[in-house]
Amino acid sequence: MLSYRHAFHAGNFADVLKHSVLTLVLEYMTRKDKGFTYIDSHSGAGMYSLHDEYAQKTGEYKEGIAKIIAVKDDTDFPEALRPYLELLAQLNPESDELTLYPGSPGIAKQFLRRQDSAHLFELHPTDIQHLTEYCQRWRKSHVKQSDGYKGVLGLVPPPSRRGVVLIDPPYELKEDYTKAVRTIVKAYDKFATGTYILWYPVVTRERIDSMEKEFTRSAVKNLLQVEFCQQADSDEYGMTGTGLFIVNPHWQLNSQLEEILPYLQGKLGQESSHFTLKQLIAE
Ligand SMILES: C[S@@+](CC[C@H](N)C(=O)[O-])C[C@H]1O[C@@H](n2cnc3c(N)ncnc32)[C@H](O)[C@@H]1O
Repeated sequence: MLSYRHAFHAGNFADVLKHSVLTLVLEYMTRKDKGFTYIDSHSGAGMYSLHDEYAQKTGEYKEGIAKIIAVKDDTDFPEALRPYLELLAQLNPESDELTLYPGSPGIAKQFLRRQDSAHLFELHPTDIQHLTEYCQRWRKSHVKQSDGYKGVLGLVPPPSRRGVVLIDPPYELKEDYTKAVRTIVKAYDKFATGTYILWYPVVTRERIDSMEKEFTRSAVKNLLQVEFCQQADSDEYGMTGTGLFIVNPHWQLNSQLEEILPYLQGKLGQESSHFTLKQLIAE
């Protein structure tokens, strides 16, 4: 079953949190000259048009990135969100209105240098075509239409011993919840110094509790968990919140998120919105 298309959701509130964190992590990685490997297990199409029929049909970006762009000149705009907005501005040089919105490969492409490489996995037959086209002139990118969980395990540790792994499944299948955590636990066993980012939707709280338990019982150390819920937990209304598990975050990420989260809550939250930021597993 492959019905999920990220084009319907590009730029929504979940993307704002996920992509601002990815931007901060990649920006940090490029502070050292030594090359690194970026692995994206579930890449999507790479780049999206917010004017296309998919984005227009749901209008999710209007409740996400469009609201953040609208306040970018406010004096209280958080510094930690600036790199993400600067990247969007580079992609949309003509106007303040966003036309293009980058997926995770699009963000990586802006940051990766000649000494870095990217491994991008995608299964959907249409999105793999878009992704392949998008990456055509990106020499250090390797695009594969194959299972991203297996792909991650086949690539760690990278030769440079510096790496960022993003695992961003669609969670169409319930098994994604356990598979995603287990992939990180196994990858960590082979490459304990890598940075791992795992995205999850808050649909039912029990599933997140199980993911947390599985991590805390594993050998994984130094795991930061961040969550932003637009609404109170509910089993009835689909995705009410968005979260990330980040293994081996750079040391400033916690304070960057302390700055970002209240701001997102103020601008994107609805009634009963809340956020959490916790060191789920110590260093
Ligand atoms: C949430 S989207 C990815 C969004 C992207 N990471 C971003 O931030 O722009 C999930 C993608 O995973 C793809 N997918 C589903 N199962 C997969 C698997 N086992 N391996 C690789 N890709 C998969 C789907 O086709 C979908 O495009």
